[in-house]
Amino acid sequence: MDISRMRPLTGEGRKLYIETYGCQMNVGDSEIVVSILQDEGFVYTERVEQADVVLINTCSVRDNAEQRVWGRLQELKRYRKGKPHLLIGVIGCMAERLKEQLAERGEVDIVAGPDAYRDLPRLVRLADEGGKGINVQLSREETYAEIAPVRLDKNGVSAFIAIMRGCNNMCSYCVVPYTRGNERSRDPRTILREAEALFAAGYREVTLLGQNVNSYRWSDGEGQVDFPELMRRVASVSPLLRVRFATSHPKDMSDRLLETMASMPNICRCIHLPAQSGSTRMLELMNRKYTREWYLGRIAAIRRLLPDCAITTDLIAGFCGETEEDHRQTLSLMREVGYEFAYMFKYSERPGTRAARHMPDDVGEEVKNARLTEIINLQNELSLESNRRDVGKVFEVLVEGDSKRSADRIFGRNSQNKVIVFDKGDHRAGDYVRVKVTSCSSATLLGEEVR
Ligand code: SAH
Ligand code: SF4
Ligand code: F3S
Repeated sequence: MDISRMRPLTGEGRKLYIETYGCQMNVGDSEIVVSILQDEGFVYTERVEQADVVLINTCSVRDNAEQRVWGRLQELKRYRKGKPHLLIGVIGCMAERLKEQLAERGEVDIVAGPDAYRDLPRLVRLADEGGKGINVQLSREETYAEIAPVRLDKNGVSAFIAIMRGCNNMCSYCVVPYTRGNERSRDPRTILREAEALFAAGYREVTLLGQNVNSYRWSDGEGQVDFPELMRRVASVSPLLRVRFATSHPKDMSDRLLETMASMPNICRCIHLPAQSGSTRMLELMNRKYTREWYLGRIAAIRRLLPDCAITTDLIAGFCGETEEDHRQTLSLMREVGYEFAYMFKYSERPGTRAARHMPDDVGEEVKNARLTEIINLQNELSLESNRRDVGKVFEVLVEGDSKRSADRIFGRNSQNKVIVFDKGDHRAGDYVRVKVTSCSSATLLGEEVR
């Protein structure tokens, strides 16, 4: 007799719904969580009203990210009506940062930090028994290396591969080192296997993910693998597999990485290089470990080695002590680099960080708003200028799917990560098509196929 059949399994066909906030790392983590729980018999659903277990994968990077989750938890209470067995779990960075407050909430049954996902089946059992399932232990080793993520975004063309976890950089404004723990790299063999399996399943683009991918480093009996070498190996899976990466820290952006990129055309011509500020004084207070001049030196190296490379960034407006002059320097940096795209934020003080402990959050809300607006307006101009320069050029586009606006058009991306919309013809997702850009807005390029 099979004894294990007599004990009810944790999953038993129960429906699992998961909602993801925050960065791409969290998107990848949700796919790992679904994989772990599917192995226990849970069945994934996209419909919250059908769920027996609802997990919210959360972000703490700015206060508004956390406020959205508190609001969502309030809303989720209504699904409990008529469904007393429903379990609600909060996982991810906010679970790590606010476990006490979350555990106190009546509607929260499970609290799991980013390194505790293997323990979720046990945490569900604890909650089933009427208790609370809580685990926010951080780990020095966990990389979920051998877990095959269940791909939740179903375009079937592009996928994320987490290559490392955690962060050691301790930028003074940032909560990530506290919520995600120490930096650790994943075994390159498991990364390569994942890339090969994705390619065999029809995927044509992978993005290697980490908080600071260019400090990736693995060593074992067989030698050392650093980030340029890992890129080379992943890009060697097939010339038809595009490889991207995010995010790289400017301090570690080496010429060797740029040379590796230049030597392999399927490594995409797009580098996300968060500047945060254009003022050396601010960069010092932010503990970014580079100056404006040094950053511009890295930009010059990119332009030299990869002349057709797009450069994108993250910027923070109104960090502690930021003067009008510091702000002007951010605007001038933006113009000097001519970013293709930027994520732009208002500084949000995060409890426990070095900035929160030692630096007054002294730029008023109105000034922060005004500076952010100026940054956004300038970026819109720069994006439009960059798109206008592309009109008339021909790009190889990897098709991702149907255009949302029109059934007979499709969209894809060029190597520079810009979206291009064009007539469908007989193409489908996963095809490479040569497209000439005919017009643009600040967000999109329009084009036509060149045969
Ligand atoms: N590891 C990546 C991204 C981390 S979080 C990197 O270093 O670039 C993504 C972005 O959020 C950061 O680049 C930064 O621009 C922004 N950010 C982080 N903490 C913030 C805070 N306290 N207030 C506002 N923006 C913040
Ligand atoms: Fe945060 Fe800095 Fe680490 Fe990025 S590099 S996650 S901004 S501490
Ligand atoms: Fe947010 Fe955590 Fe990512 S704080 S940005 S979800 S690493």
